[in-house]
Amino acid sequence: MEVINTIAALKMLLKPRKLAQQKIALVPTMGALHKGHVSLIKIAQQNADVVVCSIFVNPTQFTDPKDLEKYPRPLQHDIEMLQEAGCDYVFMPAVTEMYPTKENWHIDLGDAEFLLEGEFRRGHYQGVTQIVKKLFDAVEPELAFFGQKDFQQVLMIRHMVAYFKLPIQIVSCPIIREDDGLAMSSRNIHLSSEDRKNALVLSEALKYVQERFEEFTVEDLLKGAETIINEAEGVELDYFTIANGETLLPENNKETPNLVALVAAKVGQTRLIDNMILN
Ligand code: PAF
Repeated sequence: MEVINTIAALKMLLKPRKLAQQKIALVPTMGALHKGHVSLIKIAQQNADVVVCSIFVNPTQFTDPKDLEKYPRPLQHDIEMLQEAGCDYVFMPAVTEMYPTKENWHIDLGDAEFLLEGEFRRGHYQGVTQIVKKLFDAVEPELAFFGQKDFQQVLMIRHMVAYFKLPIQIVSCPIIREDDGLAMSSRNIHLSSEDRKNALVLSEALKYVQERFEEFTVEDLLKGAETIINEAEGVELDYFTIANGETLLPENNKETPNLVALVAAKVGQTRLIDNMILN
């Protein structure tokens, strides 16, 4: 596995692979890797000849500077995990490599940009799509792999790819959960042991909805899920919704295809998100 820090070096290394018609996959990350990321690498390996994983804590997607400051950066541990997972190249640029000058980026990501996470974190998806476009330009992959845990992020990236008409296939990979149901996330590291227990209500509420989806109305499902979360200690619900997975608008009709239950809540000082595809 090679670790590369510049776009020029990365392009030079990938050039012969491309000339040999090898399929390149990109797994973009911000580091603080866990088994969820490893699962992305594994799925990428099954679908491509070369897997590049990027580790870059992107400043433009943080709406709270304190969040950026405290974002975990266990680089040595990350490199060891990627080595063990059999990743081919790790791209770890400095901020100045990705943003040599100040840039104003704004593209039309559609109305869904301002819903749910977009409402709580204004500008977040402009920052995400900005860096993902830069990573796509650096790697020029045929495929890129993202976790379904960030359901809305994947949707926004698909919109960015459509906006620029990029020849890149976006693959959303299943959420990896701890044995007790908590969705794996780099942010879980910030949970105290009390928070860690309380955080389980997110996946429990999603499971409640999934298990009763056929028999209950959407209204009753939401009521039940919200009660589970609101009764939990130390958990402050931002939203629990059953939405159309394309528009992210709330949906009452269970016959609508692509329905997804999405939840966000503050557990102690840590904001967590999770979701479950319903049909
Ligand atoms: O999901 C993440 O880790 C980040 O938002 C991404 C896609 C790597 C962009 O910085």
